[in-house]
Amino acid sequence: MALLVNILLILLGLFLLKIILIALFFFKEIRAAQKRDPAAKGFLEVLFLYQGLHALIAHRIAHALYKMHFFFLARYLSQLSRWATGIEIHPGAKIGRSFFIDHGMGVVIGETAIIGDNVLLYQGVSLGGTSLEKGKRHPTIGNNVVIGAGAKVLGNITVGDDSYIGANAVVIQDVPPNSTVVGVPGRITKQDGKKIETSLDHIHTLDPIKQSVDELEKRIKNLENKG
Ligand SMILES: CC(C)(COP(=O)(O)OP(=O)(O)OC[C@H]1O[C@@H](n2cnc3c(N)ncnc32)[C@H](O)[C@@H]1OP(=O)(O)O)[C@@H](O)C(=O)NCCC(=O)NCCS
Repeated sequence: MALLVNILLILLGLFLLKIILIALFFFKEIRAAQKRDPAAKGFLEVLFLYQGLHALIAHRIAHALYKMHFFFLARYLSQLSRWATGIEIHPGAKIGRSFFIDHGMGVVIGETAIIGDNVLLYQGVSLGGTSLEKGKRHPTIGNNVVIGAGAKVLGNITVGDDSYIGANAVVIQDVPPNSTVVGVPGRITKQDGKKIETSLDHIHTLDPIKQSVDELEKRIKNLENKG
């Protein structure tokens, strides 16, 4: 009986130690989740119940294994994490501090993706590749970027610091810093806090079809006004 109690106490001690270590090492990430999810009620709730945090913890270990060339183990851990959280992060991806994935289900982050500090992803985001080449084929995301639910950022492109990618956008070209991008394919609607008039702007627009339609609409309105 005494032996059983001792074993239970040791297991409890190990569990508490694990929780304390995670809380210490992932303090910034837990705080980021609390700051960026108005529904988060407290530190312990994020620590125990947020899959985005759990996927990141697994990724930090998998990435360390990947860097030591334990590719199978690294991938095995990332697949286990995918099974448990619904979030697939390739162990090769480089992710900065204060990273937060809200809700998480369906997020995919490719092998050569690079993510800066203080980035927020919502569910369904893909940071994917567009080629079968083995080199850098996934996006580089700057600091303080938010990527909305369901958005796809594809290829070896760069999303500049402080940018916002709208929900369900498909981004296939570089995004300058401090921009808001929406639509398919993604077009810049705001830069440095100023709204971009895409029908007049020929530098920032990422959607030539929308630009042509906007111009045609204007010409039709002009003709209607004349008639
Ligand atoms: C893009 C976003 C950040 C809005 O940015 P904003 O600068 O405030 O943009 P506005 O609301 O002023 O909209 C600007 C234009 O983009 C359009 N727009 C906004 N979001 C869009 C989106 N996701 N897809 C397509 N068009 C969008 C608006 O209709 C508007 O069009 P208009 O100028 O022709 O009227 C926001 O709409 C968004 O998509 N956030 C993602 C949030 C999210 O994923 N939450 C998940 C919670 S679970």
